[in-house]
Amino acid sequence: KPTFLHDYRPPAYRVTHTELSFDLEPGATRVKASLHLERHPQREAGSPLMLDGEQLELKSIAIDGQPLDDDEYSLSETGLTVHRVPERFRLDTEVEIAPEENTALEGLYLSNGMYCTQCEAEGFRRITFYPDRPDVMATFSTTVIGDQARLPVLLSNGNPVERGELPNGKHFVTWEDPHPKPCYLFALVGGDLKKVEDRFTTMSGREVALQIWVEEENLGKTGHAMASLKRAMKWDEETYGREYDLDLFMIVAVNDFNMGAMENKGLNIFNSAAVLTHPKTATDVAFQRVESIVAHEYFHNWSGNRVTCRDWFQLSLKEGFTVFRDQCFSADANSAPVKRIEDASFFRTAQFAEDAGPTAHPVRPDHYIEIGNFYTLTIYEKGAEVVRMLCNLVGWETFRRGSDLYFERFDGQAVTIEDFVSCMAEVSGLDLSQFMRWYSQAGTPEIDAYGEYDYANAEYHLTLRQRTPVTPGQADKQPLHIPVRMGLVGTKSGRDLSLNLEGEDLGTAAVIHLREAEQSFVFTDVSEAPVPSLLRGFSAPVQLRFPYSREDLAFLLANDSDGFNRWDAGQRLAMLALDDLIAAHRNGVEKVMDPRIVEAFRALLERGSDDKAVLAEMLTLPSEAYIAEQQPLVDVDAIHAARTFVKQSLAVTLRDEFMALFEANRSDEPYAPEPEQIGARSLKNVALSYLMAIEDEQGIELTQAQFDADHNMTDVRHALTLLTHSSRDELADPALRAFGEKWAHDPLVMDQWFSLQVTRPQADALDRVKFLMAHPAFSMKNPNNIRALIGAFANQNRVNFHRADGESYRLLADVVIELNRLNPEVAARLITPLTRWQRFDEARQGLMKGELERIRAERLSPNVYEVVEKALA
Ligand code: ARG
Ligand code: ZN
Repeated sequence: KPTFLHDYRPPAYRVTHTELSFDLEPGATRVKASLHLERHPQREAGSPLMLDGEQLELKSIAIDGQPLDDDEYSLSETGLTVHRVPERFRLDTEVEIAPEENTALEGLYLSNGMYCTQCEAEGFRRITFYPDRPDVMATFSTTVIGDQARLPVLLSNGNPVERGELPNGKHFVTWEDPHPKPCYLFALVGGDLKKVEDRFTTMSGREVALQIWVEEENLGKTGHAMASLKRAMKWDEETYGREYDLDLFMIVAVNDFNMGAMENKGLNIFNSAAVLTHPKTATDVAFQRVESIVAHEYFHNWSGNRVTCRDWFQLSLKEGFTVFRDQCFSADANSAPVKRIEDASFFRTAQFAEDAGPTAHPVRPDHYIEIGNFYTLTIYEKGAEVVRMLCNLVGWETFRRGSDLYFERFDGQAVTIEDFVSCMAEVSGLDLSQFMRWYSQAGTPEIDAYGEYDYANAEYHLTLRQRTPVTPGQADKQPLHIPVRMGLVGTKSGRDLSLNLEGEDLGTAAVIHLREAEQSFVFTDVSEAPVPSLLRGFSAPVQLRFPYSREDLAFLLANDSDGFNRWDAGQRLAMLALDDLIAAHRNGVEKVMDPRIVEAFRALLERGSDDKAVLAEMLTLPSEAYIAEQQPLVDVDAIHAARTFVKQSLAVTLRDEFMALFEANRSDEPYAPEPEQIGARSLKNVALSYLMAIEDEQGIELTQAQFDADHNMTDVRHALTLLTHSSRDELADPALRAFGEKWAHDPLVMDQWFSLQVTRPQADALDRVKFLMAHPAFSMKNPNNIRALIGAFANQNRVNFHRADGESYRLLADVVIELNRLNPEVAARLITPLTRWQRFDEARQGLMKGELERIRAERLSPNVYEVVEKALA
């Protein structure tokens, strides 16, 4: 039973004010709701009142104080209908719910003895009967009652306005949120928590108390999140003119959480993995992830909460824009080029794969069965790329004016993607109608580019041809409006040449606009033969092909003024070598390393870089997942063998250079998650990876010493991963044991310990997965455990997940079947690698489809059903 975008109608009744009261009594939580309702002015009089509600036990119901008779309403699995209601009225209901039994982690549930909520997208209907849709916005007043000893802390949205003691050792707190909001932004927390407090003065002088609530043992892990929050608040004022609007901002860390975090008004709830850090327990990557997620959730206060979505088809309105905002924030706080490289390289691996698979969907889908399945890379990351293109099209200053207009015009409303884009069109005067296709067409556009230098006329002719492949349900595609940022790099001078297009001087770096299926651009006065540098900074989320020679790529790697494209040239160069080696492996021919690649890497190492993090990225070979994305048919073993061969060849030839790089970048400075240090650590650890790829004796000693030194988790985890992924179990086993015992008490560290073991390339990886599933630190009910153990194995250990005997597919299907009952949202997400069966050989296709069919034979949740049906369609 899908829901369709074109069926949208405003709600028959809206809620102007919501009063809630929760009695958190073990085994019998009671929720009383008083909804102040009125007919929607755009809807006809006399409609029945329909409220969403699932897994609720109705105890009482009354309108304007009058209890309803049984024949005045009806109940179903999904909601409650009151047949006749007045134009304006108050509805009182009381329900009983069972948070203790809630393993789906949607609605109100218990995590480690603590009550918490997750309502986006449709969890509120598991709390009380309500019009659970984002275009119903009300002010909320919430009273939480709980046992004073077990639940000393009772939180909800807004400001606390009253608290007191009650009989039987209970107490209550009443919270008021003056900002009208949809119920998906409702939150409640009750538990034995401790807080760290700080403050922020907003640009207009409002004093805001900032609180991070955690379990007592985690009090020492909140500093980075708090510092990140303050930076994000300041950044949003300076960059977007957006100020915080309550006196209190709270973050709560919970161990059991389906996603990263949630932007509930004034009360953000976070997966503990997305907020807690300590130099000894979290890696640089984790520190940066915390910084970006804290910022992301904070930024939602405007892009999401003050202005929200009309319906869930508009999800990217808030997510795409907010991801774009957090990406820019992180770029400002760290190395901007490396942030772009990381984001683009992740995007080209994971989002491209999604866009090419059976669950491909547009940034704004037009139908869904389960909205929980649409919190995807396409909605989030491609949505952010589309907003980034808009910003680049109109220019930052104009974009900012468009953003101001959007926030001012739609403050307090639930709106659509058109509303957002039309603000940009209005302030810029641009016609963005063709651009809108980015929101409705799925699939990754492919651009085939050809160029020719005309010596006689000093012209460069560039032809671009675009095509978007067919995706499920979308047979024909229209040409998109694609901004291509580019330069022409002179082969003699090594410099960007000036770009004269149709008599206009565009300077040395320009954006050309591809709108037709095929378009040619003639650049005049091109004084020397150039190599084109196209799609600089990944200016559009497309796959670009150009017949570069290896010499061209080595030239760009050395000379391109665009840091992103320098990195990309290196990746393309490595890909050409990898392609040959993959073919050699398949044909049983001896592998030979292309000396031009080795020389290009040598040149990189000799030249060095001011930005160490960028150099570390340049020295990193494309991942197996990225290589797979580039192959017509994925041969996991050939890819693994080819990549290992390239890595080992580079390590053998450049051994001393890598050793020198390692030595030059080690440091005893106290740990700080600062860009300089992070860059040096990445570079040092990349060097160590090369040395360990050939199990260099001195490299092994250094790795062992780095592990033993226990300076910070980035270095320790990297060393432990290298030892664990080496061929020598006598190195791996004692280190793993020591680490596992040392950190047995810390679930976030144990998750890392799981991941690094199950991603080892050795053939025993599947056995380890099974063994670790029985470990006391692993629980099927904890999403972080699932992701760290099962998810990491299925997505990151390609050779072992795609074992020819299909045993890993079977294990994944078994886990999905169990999780389908416990936690459908996590189960549906875990299926992803099986849905990519089309990409593999026939034998594996058969095995993967067999497992999908085995899952389909179960009684399925809507989440798993939707994914499996698409995968087998
Ligand atoms: N809005 C949240 C965020 O992006 C994600 C919530 C997703 N919830 C879910 N059940 N899928 O920050
Ligand atoms: Zn978000």
